[in-house]
Amino acid sequence: MQTPFYQYDLALLNDTLNAAVAQATRYGYTIHYALKANANPALLKIISGAGFGADCVSGNEIKVALKNGFKPQGIVFAGVGKTDWEIEYAIEQNIQCIHCESVQEFQVIEQIAQKLNKTASIALRINPNVDANTHKSITTGLKENKFGMSAEEASLILNSANKYKNINLVGLHFHIGSQIMNMEVFKNLALEVNRIQERLQSKALPYLNLGGGLGIDYINPSINRIADFEGYFKTINQWLNPGKEQTIHFELGRSLVGQCGQLYTRVLYTKTTKSRNFAIVDAGMNALIRPALYGAIHRIENISKIEYPTIATYDVVGPICETTDCFGEQVNLPNTERGDLLVVHSCGAYAESMASDYNLRERPKSVFNHSGLALLPKH
Ligand code: LLP
Repeated sequence: MQTPFYQYDLALLNDTLNAAVAQATRYGYTIHYALKANANPALLKIISGAGFGADCVSGNEIKVALKNGFKPQGIVFAGVGKTDWEIEYAIEQNIQCIHCESVQEFQVIEQIAQKLNKTASIALRINPNVDANTHKSITTGLKENKFGMSAEEASLILNSANKYKNINLVGLHFHIGSQIMNMEVFKNLALEVNRIQERLQSKALPYLNLGGGLGIDYINPSINRIADFEGYFKTINQWLNPGKEQTIHFELGRSLVGQCGQLYTRVLYTKTTKSRNFAIVDAGMNALIRPALYGAIHRIENISKIEYPTIATYDVVGPICETTDCFGEQVNLPNTERGDLLVVHSCGAYAESMASDYNLRERPKSVFNHSGLALLPKH
């Protein structure tokens, strides 16, 4: 098998999906899978087959969701910059609802629905100004962020909504950020949603979506293989005070697929300078951009030397002509040599889906493993 490649552990994916469903069902919650985390068709077929809805952020994501088994009535569509064709497509496909992010977008959706002579179901995305306490690049619910509209704007739309016969305003949508590990943040979100719902008198509307954001353990991925769905849904249930008839929706990405993917890469060269040992590998930031983009930590192991003691620290770097093309600084590893196979953990979410062909490098292929055991390529 040619390195680098992504390996997906489908047994772990199934276990994760089952755990999420088991916890969500306790409270009658619905989960939409956020395709942006990973739109690999093999994963999508399993996730749609397990009964999840889909959260899409482009017309193409809606197409891919439909192609891979998600039902139109379980698809929601978000994004601050929807183009006319995407809105038209979403309406024509009769998806569950469009998450509308501004007053102007509301008017555009209304015009398009009128032109098509159809009804568009809409939820208003509100920016609740709740701090997700996560990396600033993946915080979306603060008032300085570009996402959503204020409660004042939502109120204007809600008060005039019955004037628009091509719009069915079903409820509200929120999403405050990603990789959130602290349940207090979700408590704060639930409390703020309660306040906003009171203020907008929206509890009679049938739909309420709290977005995604549940984090995973990047430091100890083999110990905490499954995200804390129990704590997450329990916290929401404890603090959220929805309308009696409201259905509660979530859009989870990372927590559903993050731990089931790994990136395998081979050491091309080692090099020692006055200050560092480098392990130069054949995967680059084009295959996994998270460390370069957010300073994200991913656990790295040398599986060719799994039985050996860790004796040195290496900067594990890729071949791309950028200093940020580095998967980990000062990583503890055994004595590492040319030809060794390294595994970068927790690459199921936002790795393959954010890959590029920068430096005209090939995007890594993916392999699937159904047994839960590592599928190691031959040397
Ligand atoms: N809903 C909306 C409206 C979103 O913007 C996102 C993620 C999600 C749901 C899913 O969030 P999750 O459950 O996966 O946290 N590339 C970054 C993450 C960007 C997240 C963008 N929005 C990373 O690699 O950390």
